[in-house]
Amino acid sequence: MLEVEGIHTYYGLSHILFGVTLKVERGEIVCLLGRNGAGKTTTLKSIMGLTPPKQGSIRFKGEEISGMEPYLLARKGIGYVPDDRRIFADLTVGENLEIAARQLKEEQGWSKEKVYEIFPALRDIEHRKGGCLSGGEQKMLAIARALMGNPDLLLLDEPTEGLAPVLVHALEEKIKKLKEAGLTVLLAEQNVRSALRLSDHGYIIDNGQIRYQGSIEELKENEEVRKKYLLV
Ligand SMILES: Nc1ncnc2c1ncn2[C@@H]1O[C@H](COP(=O)(O)OP(=O)(O)OP(=O)(O)O)[C@@H](O)[C@H]1O
Ligand SMILES: [Mg+2]
Repeated sequence: MLEVEGIHTYYGLSHILFGVTLKVERGEIVCLLGRNGAGKTTTLKSIMGLTPPKQGSIRFKGEEISGMEPYLLARKGIGYVPDDRRIFADLTVGENLEIAARQLKEEQGWSKEKVYEIFPALRDIEHRKGGCLSGGEQKMLAIARALMGNPDLLLLDEPTEGLAPVLVHALEEKIKKLKEAGLTVLLAEQNVRSALRLSDHGYIIDNGQIRYQGSIEELKENEEVRKKYLLV
């Protein structure tokens, strides 16, 4: 589904990503773990075309997409949920979803009703303004809104950040349901425990470089590498 190979990304003159390589197979949840400032967000933004890499290749469903505009990538089937969520404060929950809808030729695909089946709590607050939602509700809405674009691949930037433990578990269940619904997920996380519960494969990024990759079982057992790069 996604193959990132040797990308180098800069903010102005600051060199941030140094040859990042990772792969996400169709139907998998893959996590990208790393501490504050490790380069997780920059990696997702590089994939989404928001900070195009200067070097390296990004392939999505076999097609080279490096340097393409974000709106084109959204049309091709990449959904992006940024860490700051960007919910429209003056629009209701329902309107926030409707504005993101992307009509497909076929009947299948996500509709507001289908999204509410996964996030029933959003139906209950359908008429509430985005600006009046709790942090947890905003996180759910941000993911739900991305679904309305009918993505095949979902890029999630720290979906559990700032949530109480009980909400973290609830959100994990939702993400598992997305996988069951056929989505592929690349998850950037600092919350190692949560990511280990959810993912099939894991990568660790540190100082803009991938330091580890492996199955989740390997990562669970490898305390040394977790201590070194993640402090857990
Ligand atoms: N807009 C920017 N301009 C310049 N440098 C930036 C910018 N955004 C991030 N950086 C730097 O790039 C590096 C990687 O940041 P990035 O946001 O990708 O890390 P992260 O792993 O997502 O961290 P966090 O867990 O805090 O979200 C950091 O050193 C950060 O200071
Ligand atoms: Mg980040």
